[in-house]
Amino acid sequence: MIAPPGLEGVAVKETKICLIDADAGKIYYRGYDLEELAERSTYEETAYLLLYGRLPRRAELEEFRARLASLRRPPRHVEEAAGLAASAGAEPIDALRTAVSLMAAGEDLSDRSAEAELARGIKAIAAMPYVVAHFDRARRGLKPADAEYRGHAQYFLASLRGEEPDPKEARALDVMFIVYAEHGMNNSSFTAVTVASTLADMYAVITAAISSLKGPLHGGANVDAAKMIAEIGDPERVAEWVDKQLAAGRRIPGFGHRIYKRGPDPRLKILKGLAKGLAELKGDFAWLEIAEGLEEYVGAKLAAKGIYPNTDLYASVIFHYLGLPVDLNLPAFAMARAAGWAAHALEYRAQNRLIRPTERYVGPVNLRYQPLEERG
Ligand SMILES: CC(C)(COP(=O)(O)OP(=O)(O)OC[C@H]1O[C@@H](n2cnc3c(N)ncnc32)[C@H](O)[C@@H]1OP(=O)(O)O)[C@@H](O)C(=O)NCCC(=O)NCCS
Repeated sequence: MIAPPGLEGVAVKETKICLIDADAGKIYYRGYDLEELAERSTYEETAYLLLYGRLPRRAELEEFRARLASLRRPPRHVEEAAGLAASAGAEPIDALRTAVSLMAAGEDLSDRSAEAELARGIKAIAAMPYVVAHFDRARRGLKPADAEYRGHAQYFLASLRGEEPDPKEARALDVMFIVYAEHGMNNSSFTAVTVASTLADMYAVITAAISSLKGPLHGGANVDAAKMIAEIGDPERVAEWVDKQLAAGRRIPGFGHRIYKRGPDPRLKILKGLAKGLAELKGDFAWLEIAEGLEEYVGAKLAAKGIYPNTDLYASVIFHYLGLPVDLNLPAFAMARAAGWAAHALEYRAQNRLIRPTERYVGPVNLRYQPLEERG
């Protein structure tokens, strides 16, 4: 038996983390409706829910937030590595991946218990906003700005800008992080599980997952979608741009999804609402209108093929209104999804079996080895 291409439809583990009911247009994290979490929860609370399997009590949440705050600055060598990556002209997602990998340095990794791995996951999650903010400031020739920590999203924006964001901006990013925190057995979560199954440490797991996320068919689409909207530049040019792309046989970033082929991604509605709120806050509707134009035009052209807009379309609009440089869209995604990666790695490790599939050989056998001299 050979698995279908792309492992489409193949379940690789049982899970209690996320249920995606594509037909009903519903997503549940640990049984809780994502729409309700987006409305009422915070990223920190949602991360706790994903990692520990239940909502925290007040004192637990306070303790968790205090822990994230105390771990927000990574070890010195990690901070320096992010600065070095900036001066070498690295892409921010590569700088983040390297920084997470280096978090293993100087730490005793011999304890691979669930508690120790969870602690490493929390350390990585806590440090990611500062690493990305520091990297971006370093490449702009600015000194690090370590803001007061009042939440993952607020802290990231404040450390990036060197000044406090408008609370509405911080909340929009917070909701975005909740939405980005988890999404079932996607490519990067599968990568996380695969690496975790070798008993590699949590830093290795998250480093590998970041590599997966980078690809343009996965998280990288949120950068490509932003580049597309910038290139289109005017809602009037949507049709012309899309027609040209499709005629050249190219895909439209921010459209299509392996598991949403009969209707749009349920997260779209939440993100569209956030994008609208930010457009109003900024008094600037251009990117929103281009994204809406794309949703309508591409939708009319490709819905018959099961192609609908995905989260990356409006995520790129949100990041734009938050003033993020386009290439930070991807590490911003990673700093939210790290909670999901760690949760999947821990869940799998609780009943670990090394992931080691097989393949079907279709090449020749018994070829005669020709010495180099004879091959000319
Ligand atoms: C996400 C994605 C990889 C899912 O791919 P998939 O499930 O393997 O879908 P398929 O490659 O089987 O695509 C089915 C058909 O739709 C077309 N298609 C898929 N996504 C498309 C897009 N974004 N634009 C135009 N056509 C697209 C394919 O070319 C294919 O057409 P064909 O049947 O004429 O060959 C794919 O939709 C894509 O590349 N999207 C753009 C990148 C993106 O936004 N990624 C983020 C995902 S959250």
